Amino acid sequence: MKWLIGNLKMNLINSQEREDYLKLFKKEKKGKRLKNVEIILCPSFTHLESFANYFKGEEIKIGAQNLFWEKSGSFTGEVSPETLKSLGASAVIVGHSERRKYFQETDKMINLKIKAAIKTGISPIFCVGENAKEKEADLAAKVIAKQVMAGLEGIPRSQLGNIIFAYEPVWAIGTGLTPCSNEILSAKLLIRKMLVNKFGLKYAQAPKIIYGGSVNFKIADQVCMASEMDGALVGGESLSPHSFLKIAEVLDN
Ligand code: 13P
Repeated sequence: MKWLIGNLKMNLINSQEREDYLKLFKKEKKGKRLKNVEIILCPSFTHLESFANYFKGEEIKIGAQNLFWEKSGSFTGEVSPETLKSLGASAVIVGHSERRKYFQETDKMINLKIKAAIKTGISPIFCVGENAKEKEADLAAKVIAKQVMAGLEGIPRSQLGNIIFAYEPVWAIGTGLTPCSNEILSAKLLIRKMLVNKFGLKYAQAPKIIYGGSVNFKIADQVCMASEMDGALVGGESLSPHSFLKIAEVLDN
């Protein structure tokens, strides 16, 4: 089974755009039977409930783009994992590089968010990856290893299977640049090796590891299938249901 996750980011900025998107998605999806692909769409918080209601009873799952680690209380502007669950989210993106960069999210905060998601029964989509400077300095493996270890601090191995790891090199996001299949496969093997070392072989096999960064249907084969990834985390192309579902068809093969 492959996983195709759409990160809609801060788009579909009013209810009209949301409704147009949902209608178009359903129209494009009609008649397409995906046997091997799980789709998760991650709209902004305010659209979660509409998305969940619209796709009720269908194969499409809904995820959020962020969460807070406390259940409730005086945390102005934050959103509880319980709220996400009650609105229909079954997954949540955690540690996206845009949150690390623009909102100063640290590895420690990301770890708390992963724990909170798991405790609530929501699958964290845990993003890791090096930026351009780190890549140039040949630090990619070191950066990925540090992010993975810090994010997993205190997570019991029995919960590992609930996490989806997304290798998203920061320099590949929204740039049209992508690593070659071997580089992606190396990142996957590095993550898996770290899981084996920390949790043992049996548990380390459980989580999915997907790729994100400038994915479109033309390169989906290269960045997912040839590099033996379990799927893709898609930004820009998820805004076009037509293009997004073409990626799904590549992954389904
Ligand atoms: P793009 O697919 O637009 O490069 O974005 C990737 C991303 O950030 C998904 O989380």
